[in-house]
Amino acid sequence: MSDLFVARSLEEIRFWSRIMKEHSFFLRLGFRCEDTQLIYEATQFYAVFEEVERKSHAYGANTDPQTIGQFNMEVYTAVSHIWAFKRKVLGLILSCQLPGANNFPLLVDHISREANYFRNRLAELNAGQLEPLPDAIIDENVFFLKIMADHAKFIGHLLDPSERKLVDQARDFSHDFDQLVFQAIDLSSMRPQSQTVPLLSQFVDQNKVSVKSLRDFKKTARDLINDCRIKSIIHPLLADHVFREAEHFLVILDMFEQYLRGHDGSNS
Ligand SMILES: [Fe+2]
Ligand SMILES: [Fe+2]
Repeated sequence: MSDLFVARSLEEIRFWSRIMKEHSFFLRLGFRCEDTQLIYEATQFYAVFEEVERKSHAYGANTDPQTIGQFNMEVYTAVSHIWAFKRKVLGLILSCQLPGANNFPLLVDHISREANYFRNRLAELNAGQLEPLPDAIIDENVFFLKIMADHAKFIGHLLDPSERKLVDQARDFSHDFDQLVFQAIDLSSMRPQSQTVPLLSQFVDQNKVSVKSLRDFKKTARDLINDCRIKSIIHPLLADHVFREAEHFLVILDMFEQYLRGHDGSNS
């Protein structure tokens, strides 16, 4: 139990602290030269999460659970701060106080939702919830499907408009994932009756197929951007970032699949 707690905590922190570090970098890139205070704050957050990431790799399976519980709380506080920073930036953009800045409001909202998700995961881990619960299957899918739908939209908008074929593909993914989000919300609204193993299994399988194909599209885009073979204003690190988030969602879907396989025949 406590081994699993340490392992799960470190997995989550290793993945998400790198993500938070990169968000700080993307935010900084999007500010204007004169936004020195915001640039400073983003740079501070970068350093904070770089340190969290370093610590998460310094700890290991042998670290005692109490130290990890403490670490989870420290990270929780850091994530709360970056969440508040992202929401502040969103407020500035939406009230037109950063004209000409280069981050879409949806992107800033998106990265704040990711921070919120990470923060909740840390709280759940410290509360002893290590394994996916049937209830979490629908919620996690609603969350991640929306994340994937947003990614498709960002890619579509940050590719050069002359990359017509790729822009069309991104738009198709955006549409597919919007449909999947609505489908997940429908299933959520039919709870608890919809939480049968056959329905959840079908739901997870179907989402997995779509996420795999989006993951492959992101991988192709990432490689093309890295090789400077397509025109876009997508930073290579952003291309890799969204690819890794799709991979992470696939790991979670695999975990759900395994869980459901183990509970086949029951109704919850
Ligand atoms: Fe992200
Ligand atoms: Fe994302």
